[in-house]
Amino acid sequence: MHRAGRRRRLGLIAHVLIAHASKRGSTAEIAEAIAEVLRQAGHEVDCKPAEDVGDLAACDAVVLGSAVYMKRWRGDAKHFLRKHGHELSELPFWVFSSGPVGDPSTTPDPAWLEPPRIIDRAQQLGVRDHVVFGGRVPAEPEGRIERSMVEHTPAEYRDRRDWDEIRSWAQRIASGLDSPVAAA
Ligand SMILES: Cc1cc2nc3c(=O)[nH]c(=O)nc-3n(C[C@H](O)[C@H](O)[C@H](O)COP(=O)(O)O)c2cc1C
Repeated sequence: MHRAGRRRRLGLIAHVLIAHASKRGSTAEIAEAIAEVLRQAGHEVDCKPAEDVGDLAACDAVVLGSAVYMKRWRGDAKHFLRKHGHELSELPFWVFSSGPVGDPSTTPDPAWLEPPRIIDRAQQLGVRDHVVFGGRVPAEPEGRIERSMVEHTPAEYRDRRDWDEIRSWAQRIASGLDSPVAAA
């Protein structure tokens, strides 16, 4: 308790918003894993769907993540970036995309992994880092396209989320926040 109070006075505890846009839940689980690491590092974390975020007034830092479908971010994440661009330009913020499934030795078109225009915009706003995490095909596919995708994806590559990689990235964010200057 005392330690937390001292860290707060020193400006070492950041209020971090993690906003995610997920259709079938796997990106939301990545966001929760990142939240857990940041909480363990002593920060205050709100992890919620991008569509539920009002304003960023109470935030010291933001992580924005979206699933990628047909080379695009989910609409809620795109909307978040547009709506909060000005606030983001004044905050430390990080971005992740999640999507690739299937055999990792095949090299997909980079635009399949991260929408280039989104990343350009994030960079204009001063994003600290942007990464792509493996995704997961829906556990219970709906419709012809999803069923075909699951059928054509070898079972061992249906969930390519690498939790160690995700937690390491979150740890780097925590380290980046661990100075009053970074969190200011
Ligand atoms: C119809 C369809 C299109 C997809 N398009 C892409 C894509 O363009 N790039 C990519 O990396 N992953 C793509 N994926 C894989 C998804 O991004 C992956 O399943 C992701 O983990 C889904 O996230 P969610 O569970 O949060 O919705 C696609 C999946 C489906 C079903």
